Amino acid sequence: MGASTLAVAYLAAAVLFILGLKGLASPRTARAGNRYAMTGMGLAVLATLASPQVADYGWIVTGVAVGGGIGAVLARRVKMTDMPQLVALLHSFVGLAAVLVALGTYVTHRDAGALNALLLCELGIGSFIGAITFTGSVIAFGKLQGLIGSAPLRFAGQHWVNLALALAMLGATAQFVLGGGLPAFVALTVLALLLGVLLIVPIGGADMPVVVSMLNSYSGWAAAATGFTLHNELLIITGALVGASGAILSYIMCRAMNRSIVSVIFGGFGTGEEATAAAGGEARTVKTAAVEDAAFMLENAGKVIIVPGYGLAVAQAQHATAELVRALETRGVEVKFAIHPVAGRMPGHMNVLLAEADIPYDKVFEMEEINPDFATCDVALVLGANDVTNPAAKTDRSSPIYGMPILDVHRARQILFVKRSMKPGYAGVDNALFYQDNCALVFGDAKKVVEGLIQALEHS
Ligand code: TAP
Repeated sequence: MGASTLAVAYLAAAVLFILGLKGLASPRTARAGNRYAMTGMGLAVLATLASPQVADYGWIVTGVAVGGGIGAVLARRVKMTDMPQLVALLHSFVGLAAVLVALGTYVTHRDAGALNALLLCELGIGSFIGAITFTGSVIAFGKLQGLIGSAPLRFAGQHWVNLALALAMLGATAQFVLGGGLPAFVALTVLALLLGVLLIVPIGGADMPVVVSMLNSYSGWAAAATGFTLHNELLIITGALVGASGAILSYIMCRAMNRSIVSVIFGGFGTGEEATAAAGGEARTVKTAAVEDAAFMLENAGKVIIVPGYGLAVAQAQHATAELVRALETRGVEVKFAIHPVAGRMPGHMNVLLAEADIPYDKVFEMEEINPDFATCDVALVLGANDVTNPAAKTDRSSPIYGMPILDVHRARQILFVKRSMKPGYAGVDNALFYQDNCALVFGDAKKVVEGLIQALEHS
C-alpha cells in the first residue's frame, strides 16, 4: 500500500473514531457509535498491516494470536460488575507498551546512529507517561479486585515525596535528552514507575472510578507519545482522542460526585472503613415489608420511580424489572427510572443494563431531570442502590460521600428499598433513609424480589 493510500485510510479511520465517540454520547446512538468505532479500528489495523513499514508478519501474527486469545477468553468470562478492574488492567498494558516501544526505539536508533534531541525528548516523555500509567493502573486493579486494601495509604510528607520524585524524574528526562544514554532512560522510567504507585495508593475506594478514568486518559497520552515515536499519525490522533475524552469523563465524574479533580489526584478522601466505624454502635430499628405488601403499595400508586443501583447489576434483575414495569403500566401506574451518574460500578452502567432489557429510553431520566419528580411520586422503588440515595451526602460533613449530589428519594411519599441485608454500599456508610418513617425495606435478592412482585401483582 502506498503512502498516500495509507494516509487516506488513516484519515477515514480517524473520522470513524470521532463519529464513534459522538455516537457514544447518547444511549440512542451508542450502538451506531460502537459500529463506527469498530469499523474504524478494523480499517486502521488492515491499513497498518498493509503498510510498507511492516517487514515481517511472524511476530505480529504470534502477538495477535496470543494476546487476542487471552483477551477473548477474559472478555467472555468477565462479569459486568468487574469491568472497572478489567479496564484498569488493560490501561496498564497500554502504559507498559509505551515504555517498551520507547526502549526498543532508543536501542535501534542508537545502534543505527540515528538519535537526535527531538526523538530523545519523545522517547523520554513516552516512557515516563507509560510507566506512571502502568504502575498506577496495576495498583488501581489491585484495589478494585480486592487484592490490596482499598483504604487510602497515607504518610507524613507524602505530597513532598511525590513532588521530589516528579522533579527527579524530569531531571533524569532532561539528562536523557542531553545524551545520558541508557542509565538515564532506566532512571527516569524507574522513578516514573514509583511515582505511579505513590500517586494511586493514597486514593480511597470510593474515588476509584475517577482514577480509572484518569488512567484511561493517561493511557491515551501514552499512546499518542508512542505515535510520535513511531511516526504513526493515526496513533497520535487516537491517543489524543482517548486522552481528551478520558480527561473530560474524569471531570464529569468529579462534578457528579462534587469532588475537585485536584484533590482526587493528590490525596483522595475518606474510605468505607473509616465511615463504617463512624456509623457503628447505634442500634436503630427499620420497618420491613413483605413482597405482597410492597406489591400492594406499587399497584395502588399513581406514579412510581424506580432507582436502580449496583445490586440490580449483581442480581441481573434488569429483565425481571422490565416485566414489572409492563405489569404496573397495564394497571395504570406511571413508571419512570432515575439514573444517578455514578450508580453501579462504571459510567453508564445502569443505562446499559436497562437498554439490555429493552426498557424504552423515554422512561429513563438523568438525576437533574428526575429529582423534582420525587416530591410528587407515590412510591420510590430502590432496587439495589444505596449510596446514591444517601442524604448524608447533603447533611453530614464527616461522611466520605459528603458533597456528592444524590437522587432525592427521601422526598417520595413511600420508599421501598430492595436489598439483601443492612450492609452498607460501596462507600461503606450507613443510610439514614432506612430509618425514616416512610421507608420500608424488602429484604432479598433484587431479581427474586422483583419476580415475587410480579407474581403478587398477577394474583391480586
Ligand atoms: P451501592 O451504594 O454500592 O449499594 C449497592 C447496594 O446493593 C448495597 O447496599 C447492597 O446491599 C445491594 N445489593 C448487592 N447485591 C444485591 C442483590 N443481589 N440484590 C439486592 N441488593 C443487592 O450502589 P449504588 O447506590 O449504585 O452506588 C454506587 C456506588 O459505587 C457509589 O458509592 C459510587 O461512588 C461507587 N462507584 C461507582 C462507580 C461508577 S463510575 N458508577 C465505580 C466504582 C464505584 P446488600 O449487600 O445488603 O444486598
